[in-house]
Amino acid sequence: MFERPQRGERSVLLHIGIGQPVAEDDQQEFRSLAESAGAQIVGCLKAVREKPSPRYLVGKGKLEELEKLVVDEDAELVLVDFELRPRQQKNLEAALKTRVVDRAGLILDIFALRARTFEGKLQVELAQLEHLSTRLVRGWTHLERQKGGIGLRGPGETQLESDRRMIGQAIKRLHRRLERVAKRRQQGRQQRNKQEIPTVSLVGYTNAGKSTLFNRLCNAGVEVADQLFATLDPTLRRLELPDRGDVILADTVGFIRDLPHELVAAFKSTLEETRDARLLLHVVDSADPAHDERILQVNSVLKTIEADGLPVIHVYNKTDILGVPPRIDIAETGMPWRVWLSAETGEGINLLLGAISEYLFKDRVRGAFVLGVEQSRLRALIYSAAQVLDEKELEDGGWLLEVEMDKRDYEQLANREGLRFSDEKRLKRSAASY
Ligand code: GTP
Repeated sequence: MFERPQRGERSVLLHIGIGQPVAEDDQQEFRSLAESAGAQIVGCLKAVREKPSPRYLVGKGKLEELEKLVVDEDAELVLVDFELRPRQQKNLEAALKTRVVDRAGLILDIFALRARTFEGKLQVELAQLEHLSTRLVRGWTHLERQKGGIGLRGPGETQLESDRRMIGQAIKRLHRRLERVAKRRQQGRQQRNKQEIPTVSLVGYTNAGKSTLFNRLCNAGVEVADQLFATLDPTLRRLELPDRGDVILADTVGFIRDLPHELVAAFKSTLEETRDARLLLHVVDSADPAHDERILQVNSVLKTIEADGLPVIHVYNKTDILGVPPRIDIAETGMPWRVWLSAETGEGINLLLGAISEYLFKDRVRGAFVLGVEQSRLRALIYSAAQVLDEKELEDGGWLLEVEMDKRDYEQLANREGLRFSDEKRLKRSAASY
C-alpha cells in the first residue's frame, strides 16, 4: 500500500473558472485528486474571472473570503485548481499565511507517492525539481511548514531546501541517469522489434480500469486501486493470444487533462513505449457520464507524444455497472472499433482478444520453408524478413524453417527469390529426415 500521512492535511480547495463557470465534473475531479493525495477537505470556494489576476489569481474580495475560510477552518493548505505562476503562488502564501499548492504541484505529489520502479522515481524527482526550480522554495520557510506535507513529498523532498544552484545540478544529474535508463529501455524495445513481438499499449484516462484489464489479460499481479494514478510505471507482460502467438502488453501511466508539462517531459521514455506500440487499447470508463470528453482529453495527450496516428481499439469498460451485455462494434473499414466489456467480471474479454488478433495478425501468414544446404543466403533473408518460430536441421544439411511473416514480405520473397511455403508432401518427406 502507499504511504499516507497519518492524518490528512486540512485543506481548502479553490476552483477557478476563467471566462466561464466552474464545471461540475472538473470540480469533482479536483476533489478526487486532493483525496488521492490524502488531503482532508475542510472547505471549498469557487471564483469566476474574466482573466487571472497577475497578483493573486483572484480579486481582492475573493482573497478576503479565502482568508476567512482558511482561518475559520483552521486549514493548513490551500489547493488551487489552476497552474499558478511562481509569483502568484508566493503572493497567495504570504497573504493567506499558509502553504499553497497548485494543480501541477498536486499531480506531481500524487505521482511522487505512487512511483514504484527506479525509473519512475527518477522521472518524478526530475519533474518535481523542474517544477520547484522556478518557484521560490525558500519562501516557505517563513511558514510553519510540516515536513513531508502535500506538495513536499517524494523523491525530490530532500532537495527542497537546497539553493537554486544545487537544484540545477541535481536536475542535470537526473537527466544523465534517466538517459542511461531510457537507453536500456530502448534496447529492450529494439530486441522485441527484432523478435517481431508486437507491443500493445494500454492508454486511458486515469481510473478507467487499465490495470484491472491488464491483470485480467495477463493474470499479472499489478496493483489495482480505486485511486487516481495507481499506475505509474509501464509494466510489461507477455500475453498469449489463442493460436496466434505472443504480444507484449504495456500498462502505462493514467492520463488526465492538463498533465503538467514537466511530467510529460520527464515521462518521455515511458510515453515512448506508447508511441512505438503497434496497437493502442484506449480504455474508457463507459459508466462515467463525461466519458466522451475524457476520450478527447486522452487523444490530446496522445497527440502531444505523437502517438495519435496509431491504430486504436476503444475498450468501453465497466459494462457491469451499465448493465449492458458485452459486444463489439465494427467500424466502416470492417475493423473492430469498440469492444464493450467488464474487466472486473471478465465478461467480453474474449471479444477483445479476438479484436487484438485481427488487428495484429490480419496481414500475417504462417508456413514452413524447406531449404537445401546450398541455400544459406536465403536462410539469412528469411531470418531478416520473418519471425522464425522453429528451425530444424535436415539430414542432408538443409533446414526446415517454420515462420510467421507479413503477407507482403512473403509475396516479395516469392516474386524475387521464387521461395514458397512447402506443401504437405514435401514437409512430410523432410520430417522423416531430421
Ligand atoms: P490509473 O492507474 O489511475 O490510471 O487507473 P487505471 O485506469 O489503471 O484504473 P484501475 O484498473 O486501477 O481501476 C480503477 C477502479 O475501477 C478500481 O476501483 C477498479 O476496481 C474499478 N474497475 C475497473 N474495471 C472495472 C469494471 O469492469 N467494472 C467495475 N465495476 N469496476 C471496475
